[in-house]
Amino acid sequence: MTNAVTARATPAPRYNEAVVRKFIIATIFWSVVAFALGCYIAAELCWPALNLDQAWLNFGRLRPVHTSAAIFAFGGSALMGSSLFVVQRTCRARLWGGEALANFVFWGYQFFIVMAALSYVLGYSQGKEYAEPEWHLDLWLTLVWVCYLLIFVGTLLKREEPHIYVANWFYLAFIVTIAMLHVVNNAAVPASFFMAKSYSVYAGVQDALIQWWYGHNAVGFFLTAGFLGMVYYFIPKAANRPVYSYRLSIIHFWSLIFMYIWAGPHHLHYTALPDWAQTLGMAFSIMLWMPSWGGMINGMMTLSGAWDKLRTDPGLRFSVTAVGFYGMATFEGPVMSVRQVNSLSHYTDWGIGHVHSGTLGWVSFITFGMLYYIVPVLWKQRDVYSKKLVAWHFWIGTLGIVFYITSMWVSGITQGLMWRAYDKQGFLQYSFVESVVAVHPFEVVRLIGGLMFLAGALIMVYNLVQTMRGATEKTSAAFAAQAAE
Ligand code: HEM
Ligand code: HEM
Repeated sequence: MTNAVTARATPAPRYNEAVVRKFIIATIFWSVVAFALGCYIAAELCWPALNLDQAWLNFGRLRPVHTSAAIFAFGGSALMGSSLFVVQRTCRARLWGGEALANFVFWGYQFFIVMAALSYVLGYSQGKEYAEPEWHLDLWLTLVWVCYLLIFVGTLLKREEPHIYVANWFYLAFIVTIAMLHVVNNAAVPASFFMAKSYSVYAGVQDALIQWWYGHNAVGFFLTAGFLGMVYYFIPKAANRPVYSYRLSIIHFWSLIFMYIWAGPHHLHYTALPDWAQTLGMAFSIMLWMPSWGGMINGMMTLSGAWDKLRTDPGLRFSVTAVGFYGMATFEGPVMSVRQVNSLSHYTDWGIGHVHSGTLGWVSFITFGMLYYIVPVLWKQRDVYSKKLVAWHFWIGTLGIVFYITSMWVSGITQGLMWRAYDKQGFLQYSFVESVVAVHPFEVVRLIGGLMFLAGALIMVYNLVQTMRGATEKTSAAFAAQAAE
């Protein structure tokens, strides 16, 4: 009886924030791991001896550890944490399924990441980019992902708001599509129950097509749709303004998800894939420019009438710059998808520059903006510990990206031109190793850019940990006062 009274007197908190806090801590942790690994493999590309003759430190094994840590651990934790936060707030409903299910999704996902990384360094991989884990881990992830989907959809169904806010549409598209891509691309026949070895059910060019249907949509739905969900919640919140155009958000949502799914063949130009399929991929990639810029314009214009906030809220600066980088990467992508341009850019560092203007400028920056907003809210603080440190992070990080992507453009075009240069007799003018020597300085500049980006992230970690501990700093108030002058 007493217990019942006590239970009624202290009702369960309205939202399940404990699981969101866990995902946010994981995001912060994995950001450092992913960026540090990126720097290490960048250094290996400058000085290969850094692999110390150890198989597990080899570039070939560490590269997928970096990509998985960055996309799935850092990006994935940010997406899962922020989606579970946003869906509760915008539906005014507690997460469906209870604490245990939410905790299973958190720990199950982290377990998957750690096991995947371990398997790569030990040399296990099914050799599909961004889908390297072998079949045992694929099955495990399917289970975790279905539970995540159930929690998200269950919460939408029990919402107290009549309307499903647009951010949830983007998050849901991300969750559903990733499930579909994962299951189809990983369909494989295990060699035996006890072996981490399997054979894809697809063969030859069909296998390549399925892989790049998966790969490109991992970009479209993991690295884009989910993060657009963040744009639609966190920018209006931080700017204290409604979304610029709700109609535009719906139009660009449907056109984006319809077009992305066809663009994969632009990864397979000049291959055994039939020409018509390559042209189809190219045409859809060019069309994708429009819905992508619809999202960019909507994100940017949400600030109209509130641009002054950029002076007082350095966290918002990250979000808005991220949307700018999104616009840049989604202009560069369609250009690179044109077959003739791709004949120059493919296999070169230009692609790597494109990837990182998307992943550093867009994915990481929008995540940092989200973190600077969400950490004070979740840890019940008035603001972040130091706005001055946020500003330092912003400038060091931005400069780091500029170093990274400009060096990769120069390096990529140098490689592309050297590989296609012929002498008068029709022989190749340069050997491959000459092109490796030629781009060495740019590889070093990229490493410097990466180290700056990492340094910025370390400043963020310090700032956010101080925020969580409830520390206050005088300079924060001074910064706000100075900016307001
Ligand atoms: C300090 C930050 C980072 C550094 C220094 C860095 C460095 C690198 C390097 C050296 C490579 C291999 C390039 C090559 O094979 O020639 C790479 C690949 C890649 N990185 Fe990063 N990276 C960073 C952050 C990120 C982040 C935050 C993401 C994603 C959210 C990311 C996603 C990727 C992807 C997808 C690839 C494979 C690209 C491809 O195959 O075309 N990186 N990175
Ligand atoms: C309209 C949007 C976009 C289009 C049409 C597009 C197009 C392309 C093209 C043509 C390539 C080179 C393919 C090759 O030569 O093999 C590429 C590579 C890539 N893009 Fe994009 N891109 C877009 C946006 C983005 C964004 C926003 C990101 C990141 C957040 C991104 C991440 C990547 C990655 C990771 C790769 C490397 C894939 C690999 O080879 O491993 N893209 N993209």
